[in-house]
Amino acid sequence: MLGSMNDGEVLVTGANGFIGRWLLCELTGRGRSVVAMVRRAAEREAELRSFVSAHGGDARLLRVVEGEIERPGLGLTAPLTGVRAVYHLAARFEFGAGVEQARAANVQGLLEVARWASEQRSLQRFVLLGGYRMTRPEPAMRAFERPISDRARAAIYRGRGAYEVSKHEGYWAFRRFAAERGLRWTAVHPSTVIGDSRTGETTQRTGLTATVAMLHRGRMPAMVGGAKTFVPVVTVDHLARVLATVIDNERTVGQDLTVLDQRTPMLPELVAMLAQHCGVRAPKFSLPVSLVAALPQWLSGIDRESLAFITDDQYDTSEADEHARAMGIEHPPLEQSVERWCRYLIAQRFLSA
Ligand SMILES: NC(=O)c1ccc[n+]([C@@H]2O[C@H](COP(=O)([O-])OP(=O)(O)OC[C@H]3O[C@@H](n4cnc5c(N)ncnc54)[C@H](OP(=O)(O)O)[C@@H]3O)[C@@H](O)[C@H]2O)c1
Repeated sequence: MLGSMNDGEVLVTGANGFIGRWLLCELTGRGRSVVAMVRRAAEREAELRSFVSAHGGDARLLRVVEGEIERPGLGLTAPLTGVRAVYHLAARFEFGAGVEQARAANVQGLLEVARWASEQRSLQRFVLLGGYRMTRPEPAMRAFERPISDRARAAIYRGRGAYEVSKHEGYWAFRRFAAERGLRWTAVHPSTVIGDSRTGETTQRTGLTATVAMLHRGRMPAMVGGAKTFVPVVTVDHLARVLATVIDNERTVGQDLTVLDQRTPMLPELVAMLAQHCGVRAPKFSLPVSLVAALPQWLSGIDRESLAFITDDQYDTSEADEHARAMGIEHPPLEQSVERWCRYLIAQRFLSA
């Protein structure tokens, strides 16, 4: 358990990103003093502060510093002292990135942050943002559980999305590093994150946002997946509450928390729900993932990398649920949250996605 705000600071990487912003609000709202590490800090600080103030946080507890995870020592211009927890959220979260670009941030960058954190004598916890597919990896990804040759690694990346594979590789490289250095870690693995449950607000353009945009524009003639396809969602405010409180719960040390709303309906019903909020008809037909994967992207209109997330897998959320119960946190109402998120996306013209 971390003590009061005077006992030390929390460092958040990727603080300017979608999840990072809500986490800053939640942490400072709970009285923690937070160092937000961002690129182009001078340019972004004022906006980030006003976001935090406008979303229930306390900008007085926020310090914005310049940092770049791919640089030795994170490119910090002044040493940080008294950091007791690191939340590592910075990642190249983008479909279509090259293998080397994705690995530079999601593998080497992650290890650089872990190295820096392991050198902080005050550190008590390292919180890593993974992704829910990490807890149900396809067999090829299991090769990353042990160090592998460059050739074997290249074979795994071939034909797959670099974002998804680099997240698996980074996670396992981190686990080995943490075991060697005795780093006290917690990994949080969210599913697709949708907007704030109260307003629908989001900054995320990838994934399901693109699906809602296609539906709304009448450009989705068929669905992908079957009756049991499960693409779970979680609201960003729920995720931020879970994240902010893991450092208060000793039981989460060494745990992988899969954070998603188990009430998310199967994909056909979810798409029907989204179509209703968009005021359009849901597509009547479904195509198997294997068929869509074989079509050129210009024809299917679907980003190939997103197909890795369209599966019938179910996920074990028991550790995250137990943590949420212990902290008195509940998922907000699902249908209302999905509706607000759709309305926000429509009003914001899908963030120009
Ligand atoms: N959102 C989801 O649905 C979802 C689901 C599962 C897991 N996750 C994971 O959650 C984490 C946060 O995701 P997010 O949705 O908040 O993504 P995001 O909005 O893209 O934010 C990522 C942040 O990382 C920063 N970043 C990237 N490369 C960096 C570098 N080399 N040095 C310093 N900062 C760097 C970006 O900064 P710039 O603004 O300067 O580019 C950005 O602020 C990621 O690890 C992601 O894989 C997200």
